[in-house]
Amino acid sequence: MRKRVLALVLVLLCGAACRRASQPLKPITEWWEQAVVYEIYPRSFADTNGDGVGDLNGITAHLDYLRDLGVDAIWITPFYPSPQVDFGYDISDYRDIDPQYGTLADFDRLVAEAKKRDIRVIADLVLNHTSDKHPWFVESRSSRANPKADWYVWRDGKPNHQPPNNWQSLFGGSAWQYDPQRGQYYYHEFYKEQPDLNWRNPDVRKAMYGVARFWMKHGVAGFRLDAISRLFEDPQLRDEPVAEPGVNAYGGPILNGQYTDNLPEVHDVLRELRKVTDEFPDSVLIGETYLPNVQELLKAYGSKDDELQLPMDMQFGMTNRLSVPDFRARLKEAETELRGNVPLLVFDNHDNTRSWNRYGDGVHDLAIAKLLAGLLLTPRATVQLYYGEEIGMENNDPKRKEDVKDPIGKLGWPAQKGRDGERTPMQWDARLNAGFSTAKATWLPVAPGYQARNVALEEKDPDSLLSFYKALIRLRRENPALRGGGFELIDEKDDNVLSYLWRAADGKTVLVALNFTASPREASYNVGRGQATTLISTFAKAGQVVDLKNLALAPYGVFVGQVE
Ligand code: GLC
Repeated sequence: MRKRVLALVLVLLCGAACRRASQPLKPITEWWEQAVVYEIYPRSFADTNGDGVGDLNGITAHLDYLRDLGVDAIWITPFYPSPQVDFGYDISDYRDIDPQYGTLADFDRLVAEAKKRDIRVIADLVLNHTSDKHPWFVESRSSRANPKADWYVWRDGKPNHQPPNNWQSLFGGSAWQYDPQRGQYYYHEFYKEQPDLNWRNPDVRKAMYGVARFWMKHGVAGFRLDAISRLFEDPQLRDEPVAEPGVNAYGGPILNGQYTDNLPEVHDVLRELRKVTDEFPDSVLIGETYLPNVQELLKAYGSKDDELQLPMDMQFGMTNRLSVPDFRARLKEAETELRGNVPLLVFDNHDNTRSWNRYGDGVHDLAIAKLLAGLLLTPRATVQLYYGEEIGMENNDPKRKEDVKDPIGKLGWPAQKGRDGERTPMQWDARLNAGFSTAKATWLPVAPGYQARNVALEEKDPDSLLSFYKALIRLRRENPALRGGGFELIDEKDDNVLSYLWRAADGKTVLVALNFTASPREASYNVGRGQATTLISTFAKAGQVVDLKNLALAPYGVFVGQVE
């Protein structure tokens, strides 16, 4: 309510200037709007105890770097005690820290030090499943009559030792595992070591909301909700239809997921959880929401904006095609179809090949990486970065099956090489192990090429990708047009150059032009007096005045300028 009143006051204050803007101003009232959230995979960020695996103290040690980069929050992937089958996404204790990452005291210190630098900490909350070593599951599997018997999804099989139905695990094979102790099958959307919780059981909900409060009291600003669309399954256990002919990377059928993904009941849980986090001021819920279209994405905010504040828009960064019409359509949808909610744009994360490899052409990779930075950081959106994206880290996929650490890579080799490639150690400098660790061997090998691409080197180079990220982040933090101004896509017929304007409350206008092609392009804009002063560009110097009637854009060029 307070937010709405504040927004109204701001709009009234800006008076006539606002009315001149062709698109409505959207004053920023929450810290997470137009923010930068930086994802850290703790195993791979920085190792302070020399065991070859990153740790919480390693994150604390690099908070100045993150402050200088300009991030508003860090999301740390799971750091809880875990058998590490899925590298932390199989949790055996939700209220502690895995000893290889540190202690609760280390965590509290991390939160306190981050706060001093105005950085919030977001934890990863895995609600869909636990580890099979979690005491809840140990108890649940022990008999059919224990107090937690109904905490997981247990069913009898079909005759002749057949699973209850055709559902497939996302990580390969049947999603059902027979448990001889209990004499029944349990459901697992992911590895068999990750049994799914039964979210129809109120005690499960209560226990998990307690977990959320526990971490909020330890100072986290909110959660990234893992696999959130997967919480419920069809109670009638109907077989899933085949979506397309052929087999997936694990040799199984390709099913359409209609009885195991995105069931309507998910929204009840999101509303309940939002009430829990709303008990704490300034909290935020981010969702891992691989949803098929903007209509489904809108639902994730809640019909009364009472669910997730920031469901990830996975339609944006995963197309793997540098197509102006595609990205323009996504930005337009975000502006017009999300009821004014803030989109969360993402290119990279710990589950997908890095954008350097997905969008690069092998020739213009650095220029393309700068184009992606421009595309990510200049629209109206909160942005999620993945460690190393800002320095141009690339995938280092295992070359041999025996080197693979991620179990899906072992199972699906060679069609599926697993996710090790995008999880390699952060490249801090040109020393041993890229400055990540002093260990003889690191848990994953450092990617080759780190001597030419690392933080120390790029910090000194004004033309580096890192310097470009820093400049763009500073601009979106400080420029009044990019912070709550009116946003307008222009030149919508151009399939090569993506262009838009930002108009501040005082009428000052910023133009963004992004050349998506490997050739130079001429663009012509009829705005202002036809000139712009360069703010940030890959081809023009800051301060340089350019002619907007005849703007020559370099291949994959980025131009951000103050319209005169
Ligand atoms: C999410 C995580 C992924 C994990 C899976 C199971 O998709 O991002 O890394 O393997 O959930 O928890």
